[in-house]
Amino acid sequence: MYRLTANDRRFRIFLELKRGISGEEIARKYGLSRTAIWKFVRRLEEMGYVFESRRGVGYRIVHSPDLSVFEIASVCFKSDLVEEVFYYEEVDSTNQRAREVGKPKRLFIAERQTRGRGRYGRVWVSDPGGLYFSITLPREIPLEDLPKITLTSGLAVARALNARLKWPNDVMMMGRKLCGILCEISGEIENPLVIVGIGINVNNKTPEGGISLREVEGKELRRIDVFRSVFESFEVYYKRLIKREWEEIRKEWIENSDTIGKRVVVRVAGKEYRGIAVDLDEDGGLILKEDEKTIRIFSGGCFYVTPSAGLKPRLSQ
Ligand code: BTN
Repeated sequence: MYRLTANDRRFRIFLELKRGISGEEIARKYGLSRTAIWKFVRRLEEMGYVFESRRGVGYRIVHSPDLSVFEIASVCFKSDLVEEVFYYEEVDSTNQRAREVGKPKRLFIAERQTRGRGRYGRVWVSDPGGLYFSITLPREIPLEDLPKITLTSGLAVARALNARLKWPNDVMMMGRKLCGILCEISGEIENPLVIVGIGINVNNKTPEGGISLREVEGKELRRIDVFRSVFESFEVYYKRLIKREWEEIRKEWIENSDTIGKRVVVRVAGKEYRGIAVDLDEDGGLILKEDEKTIRIFSGGCFYVTPSAGLKPRLSQ
């Protein structure tokens, strides 16, 4: 595990190395020995960084790995949403880590998860090559707004990746699942912590019904580029939610969703609700119409019903 804060000396030296700096200058500015600097440079090389190092000029990073704690930190610390980054080669679940650390404004990211959690106790398969991260939010949102946070997070990801939304928060491409979002609450009731966990299929193998950006694009993508656009979009939409722009977000969610207008089955707590999804209401509930009845649902597994002649309706996720 590697953790970094914005004022961590290692992070500041890293930024200098990106621009290019002489060993002498680092030693002087940061009070480090030549050996300590050399060790840090070696450590970065092990992570996949390549340096141009010329005698008398110093060090400059000329190639960065696909993902590293320093790359993630460079994105996150531009925003005031994150104060500390936790990076894991392997972890059980980033949502679980977030829960254990229990502090707001933290970002947890892993190369792979051994017990990635999905909604309803399902497993989120987290092979190498995907993006798996969790953000703990500042304590500024009332708990009853959790459904709005979930929907807003989904919209932020969908907008960043040019994808569609399936209620409540699946991000889809070509009718298959590209990204899943798991929002959880932890801590005490008086002082709850909201955890937003996001899993995106980038260059990883996907389970049935899933799709990766690699499949869509026909080539591998740099995960840091995907992370940057998703994180920046998340920040924009989250701040709009805080500024009470939910009504605009709700409309935008509807425009970017492929659920509204479809015949669906929603399964929740052992029950099944059927109907045509007609709207997303002001509290983030899905409105279903069936004959004269109107049903309002706040959570559940949503399936699209694809009728095919002579057969029972087929459910597709
Ligand atoms: C879903 O069921 O669609 C939600 C999947 C959420 C997966 C992400 S991956 C990062 C974070 N850590 C977890 O254990 N789960 C979420």
